Amino acid sequence: MSGPLILGLETSCDETSAAVIEAPLTIRGHVIHSQDEHTLYGGVVPEIAARAHLQRIDEVVEQALAEADCRTRDLDAVAVTAGPGLIGALLVGYSWAKALAFALDRPFLAVHHMEAHLFAPSLENPGATPPFVALLVSGGHTLLLHAVEWGSYRFLGETRDDAAGEAFDKVAKLLGFPYPGGPAIEEASLEGDETRYRFPRPMLSKNQLPAAADFYDFSFSGLKTAVAAVVRELEGSGTLDAERCHVAASFQAAVADVLAAKTLRAVEKTGCPRVLIGGGVSANKRLRAELVGRLGAEAELFHASPRLSLDNGAMVARVGAFRLERHEIAPWNSSADPSLPFPGLMRISA
Ligand code: KG4
Ligand code: ZN
Repeated sequence: MSGPLILGLETSCDETSAAVIEAPLTIRGHVIHSQDEHTLYGGVVPEIAARAHLQRIDEVVEQALAEADCRTRDLDAVAVTAGPGLIGALLVGYSWAKALAFALDRPFLAVHHMEAHLFAPSLENPGATPPFVALLVSGGHTLLLHAVEWGSYRFLGETRDDAAGEAFDKVAKLLGFPYPGGPAIEEASLEGDETRYRFPRPMLSKNQLPAAADFYDFSFSGLKTAVAAVVRELEGSGTLDAERCHVAASFQAAVADVLAAKTLRAVEKTGCPRVLIGGGVSANKRLRAELVGRLGAEAELFHASPRLSLDNGAMVARVGAFRLERHEIAPWNSSADPSLPFPGLMRISA
């Protein structure tokens, strides 16, 4: 027997995406449109993002429905990213999805963007279910948590300033790479010597105790400043072109080191040898290799393919299936929330 057909819409940042899944795990149609309007500005311009979603959303949904070989009336529910994200961008998807659900008289499902990243690997690997330690690393968030079961998450740590993806984007800009910076830095690093520069590992020291407030927390703005200082020096001496890939590789190694070390702490303290990484930065192969190396053969590491690691509608539909199963339907008077709290996240001390 086939499960309910769920349309998932994602418009929280600069991807306009729609997917139809047959709950809980089968992707029937999936379209992701990445906006290239922002390249010129070296970062996402909120107003332009909202307009671009508005221009594309009809076409993206139509294509996803066509791929899934269904019409809107075949849908059993409509899910959408409710937050966090850019309010103008979120509202395009939210209003569109709510109007469709209302017109069809189907359940309307509001999804947290970071919880969607948490569910994404399960679309490709049904075994990627809690319990696991999760490292969620995107352009706007860096979050370490212990997922006890779906919908029940113990908060461990987060960034105190820039998100991991934001650090990649800012350092890429310093080095003259285009937006988004993560893939550009990863590619340049392949040609670089990551031991050439020893960048700081913020909030990571050997004698940190678990009770320390920053034991699981991250900070990337100081690392970015350290890279900026080196870039200035290299520009001054006219050697930046020759050193660019080494700076990129050394920066990437510092980020991978900090992210993996804190994740390992969580594995040790929770006693949970299952780890999941999600969000755009989880597509980074250097980070994955660092985690695999440190976790060892006993542990399991779950991650999605690059397509499902970055923002996409399928992960939104996947969480929609979970909400539907729990009869957690969003009311018609609900709205998008740019700082939506993570559902089920418990901030309790060890
Ligand atoms: O999850 P995502 O697609 O969007 C947000 O929720 O923010 O993540 C986007 C972020 C960007 O900062 C981008 O530079 C970063 O993920 N990213 C990467 C890689 N691919 C994307 N960072 C490092 N290595 C990559 N291969
Ligand atoms: Zn994301």
